[in-house]
Amino acid sequence: MRKLILATVVVLALALTMVGLASANGGPHGGYTATTDACAGCHRAHTAIGPRLLVRSSTYDLCISCHGSAGAGANTNVEDGYYLSSRDDPPGGADGNVGAANTPDNAPLLGGGFQYYQGITVTSSHDPTGTVLAAWGNAVDRGTTADLSEGLSCASCHDPHGSPNYRIIKATVNGVAVSVDQVDEGAAKDYDTEQWGAGMSNICAACHVAYHETGADVGHDTTNQAYGGGFTHRVDMPWNGDALTDPLIGMGTNNPETVGFGGYTLPLAESGTADRVVCMTCHLPHGTSAQMTGFADPAFDPSGPQGPIPAGDSSLLRLDNRGVCEVCHQK
Ligand code: HEC
Ligand code: HEC
Ligand code: HEC
Ligand code: HEC
Ligand code: HEC
Ligand code: HEC
Repeated sequence: MRKLILATVVVLALALTMVGLASANGGPHGGYTATTDACAGCHRAHTAIGPRLLVRSSTYDLCISCHGSAGAGANTNVEDGYYLSSRDDPPGGADGNVGAANTPDNAPLLGGGFQYYQGITVTSSHDPTGTVLAAWGNAVDRGTTADLSEGLSCASCHDPHGSPNYRIIKATVNGVAVSVDQVDEGAAKDYDTEQWGAGMSNICAACHVAYHETGADVGHDTTNQAYGGGFTHRVDMPWNGDALTDPLIGMGTNNPETVGFGGYTLPLAESGTADRVVCMTCHLPHGTSAQMTGFADPAFDPSGPQGPIPAGDSSLLRLDNRGVCEVCHQK
């Protein structure tokens, strides 16, 4: 119990030091002044317990001390995948509540969740605990994997010191320069309705470059592909293809973002009438609780070209089974 109280006090103290630091990046992430106190919230010069002089034993533990389910220093609870406006409100402090005006309490977060999403245990997630892992299509063909150069953590994708990119996505990920447009969310951050701009797929392509095939017809014509390994679904094209130029694909007129199918919709990156299909149209970056059964369960074809993937694994997909296909193609 004492330990718990102590932990709460520490988190609260940490949160207090962050008061008044709200920046364009949100929270304690960037926009620092020349005499900022912010560094001390995460680093100790001589008495650090984690590498990189961190006040927690690892980057993951540090992020989770504010953004986790037991954390108290951020409204965005990425473990349970919820926005909780009651958190990070230190007594007497205007913590910024940088998302409250645009994000309802208990709304599911855009990124999904690492342990739960929409109240259900996740069926797949990126593992951000710092282990060196192999990524599909990491400068190798699709369906094959190669190790990342360093452990996968929250800071593989986000820069805790802020960045010019959307959601403080790092300017260099896995050694690759990444640019993702910041969007104008209005008066406050919107953590439950996407407002993506240009470059959303770039964060995914940094580790899975072979999946980032953008040329027309890469689903049936290999001449246009940068990576081999057969055919792949095109990305970064307008939702209806190039103005329905391929009559065989026949996308119809139902915009997947606004009309959808069977009550389901899919988010697109904003680009006027030609809104784009990006990786995150079908996938969630943190984790998802989508259920995979029958043909959609990897157990159906464990030795298939993309195997071995555990039974029930949902490949970070947004919707159950192949719901994502039907929202657009409506077969
Ligand atoms: C929200 C927590 C947080 C704050 C605030 C913060 N840092 Fe960091 N910093 C980190 C983490 C986490 C890492 C390690 C990232 C990794 O695992 O690659 C890091 C790494 C660093 C590094 C080494 C690698 C790099 O990214 O450059 C330096 C130098 C650094 N921080 C300086 C600072 C200074 C100076 C300040 C204050 C202006 C500051 N940090 C504020 C979390 C923070
Ligand atoms: C594989 C890359 C990746 C990793 C690893 C990752 N994130 Fe994210 N995160 C993203 C992306 C992309 C978004 C933007 C989601 C959107 O707006 O649709 C995001 C969004 C967020 C948000 C805003 C709320 C939301 O869900 O949209 C927070 C907070 C966040 N991440 C924190 C974390 C923390 C803490 C960790 C580690 C426990 C982490 N992220 C690990 C890619 C990643
Ligand atoms: C001291 C508490 C604290 C720590 C430690 C911390 N954050 Fe945050 N972070 C916040 C707050 C507060 C916000 C503003 C949104 C909110 O209330 O959830 C935020 C916002 C974010 C966002 C959204 C940025 C945007 O564009 O809106 C991301 C992504 C994020 N943090 C990632 C991380 C990662 C990765 C780490 C670990 C390296 C980390 N945070 C550590 C408090 C913290
Ligand atoms: C920093 C490198 C990195 C980035 C950036 C990254 N991934 Fe991954 N991804 C991995 C690694 C490593 C794995 C395998 C281990 C794991 O699940 O964490 C993986 C696994 C996956 C899987 C398979 C999951 C499963 O359960 O079978 C999918 C799907 C995926 N990533 C999609 C994405 C998408 C979409 C994005 C962009 C939002 C993205 N990745 C960004 C490194 C990355
Ligand atoms: C957000 C909308 C969207 C979603 C979701 C979507 N598609 Fe597509 N699909 C398209 C568009 C647009 C094209 C045309 C691509 C082009 O211009 O080459 C296409 C092309 C195709 C093709 C023809 C490929 C070729 O070049 O011959 C097939 C087959 C296909 N999709 C199957 C699927 C399956 C299976 C799923 C689910 C895993 C899916 N699609 C999800 C929009 C979508
Ligand atoms: C139209 C929907 C859709 C889009 C867009 C999409 N994916 Fe996928 N992705 C899937 C489906 C469905 C699976 C499950 C396996 C399968 O059917 O191929 C998958 C599986 C994966 C896997 C797991 C390994 C494998 O081959 O099974 C990775 C990694 C991945 N996608 C990365 C990406 C990246 C990176 C992007 C963007 C460049 C992207 N995906 C865009 C639907 C999509």
